[in-house]
Amino acid sequence: TPRPRVRITEVGPRDGLQNEPRPIPLDTKLELLSRLSRTGLKHIEAGSFVSPKWVPQMADSANIARTLPTRAEIASTPAGEKIRWSYLCPNMKGMESALEYKVPEIAVFLSASEGFSKKNLNCSINESFEKVIPVVKAAKAAGIPVRGYVSMVITCPYSGKTPPQMVLKVTEKLLEMGCYEVSLGDTVGMGTVDTVGTLLKCLKEEGGIRLEDYISGHFHDTFGMGIANVGEAVKWGVRGFDGSVAGLGGCPYAKGATGNVATEDLVWFLEGAGFDTGVNLEELAKIGDWISADIGRRNESRVGKAIMSK
Ligand code: HMG
Ligand code: MG
Repeated sequence: TPRPRVRITEVGPRDGLQNEPRPIPLDTKLELLSRLSRTGLKHIEAGSFVSPKWVPQMADSANIARTLPTRAEIASTPAGEKIRWSYLCPNMKGMESALEYKVPEIAVFLSASEGFSKKNLNCSINESFEKVIPVVKAAKAAGIPVRGYVSMVITCPYSGKTPPQMVLKVTEKLLEMGCYEVSLGDTVGMGTVDTVGTLLKCLKEEGGIRLEDYISGHFHDTFGMGIANVGEAVKWGVRGFDGSVAGLGGCPYAKGATGNVATEDLVWFLEGAGFDTGVNLEELAKIGDWISADIGRRNESRVGKAIMSK
């Protein structure tokens, strides 16, 4: 019998690199995307159409969006499935770029906490909805699938604990708007199996949301709870997870901050739990080792390091 599939979204080239203080050459980014395309990963975030003043590292996303379609050799996975390159779009200005470069997919991102909404998007949660509605409309009109993100789903450094009902409210709105799924961001990695379980229970039982179809888990691993939280989410029926190769991410200037759950760890865990990820772990581990060395960071994937030291 075939093993059940899980959906993996590789966010390393976007979430992983966006905080790097030193500029990373465009060629390095393209090489990373190209190598990732050969691992079996089908859904890869390639960049962000955000303000270059806010996130300078993503300022070359237009170059990426322009270049990827010209490289036929990375259009599909080794198994022949089309790769969905995705780009973050916070507003219509970002959407104009998405349309100009005919990107295959976009993601919109909102916060479940007012404090982070202000810090990350320079507006309230309600105002952010007003900016995102036309983006989703324009994407739908152009036939571009939209993924939704909700940030600070557990706790927020500016607003404190996030009530699960708040996450439910934002998630429901994103789904009503037409996002095909919502990725729940534990942005600061402070979630535990308890708080993650409570949140998923709320979405499922109070919200009636089919977690297996509409929810992905986006766990930052700052407190080392990422994989434990993935395990809890799997038990609740979640079948989509975001990871960052080598655990890339986090600001080197913010003490203790780290990136997403490493995709290598995610693949190891999910395959071990009987799921089919479609990802070649050995290849992914090599990429994690290469990109960490190339940008002068430690490889944060325990699984990646274990595989590479064999
Ligand atoms: P604002 O300053 O309020 O925007 O920022 P504005 O509309 O007043 O425009 C100000 C300037 O930005 C103007 O330029 C605009 O043209 C320009 P100026 O006239 O001053 O030269 N601008 C843009 N430029 C390029 N692309 C655009 C764009 N929009 C405006 N799309 C804004 C509001 C939303 C633009 C800003 O706050 C922003 O870019 N924020 C993005 C922050 C970001 O990317 N954060 C990281 C991604 S989210 C994340 O990591 C969380 C996630 O991983 C999940 C999780 O872990 O929780 C997804
Ligand atoms: Mg994130």
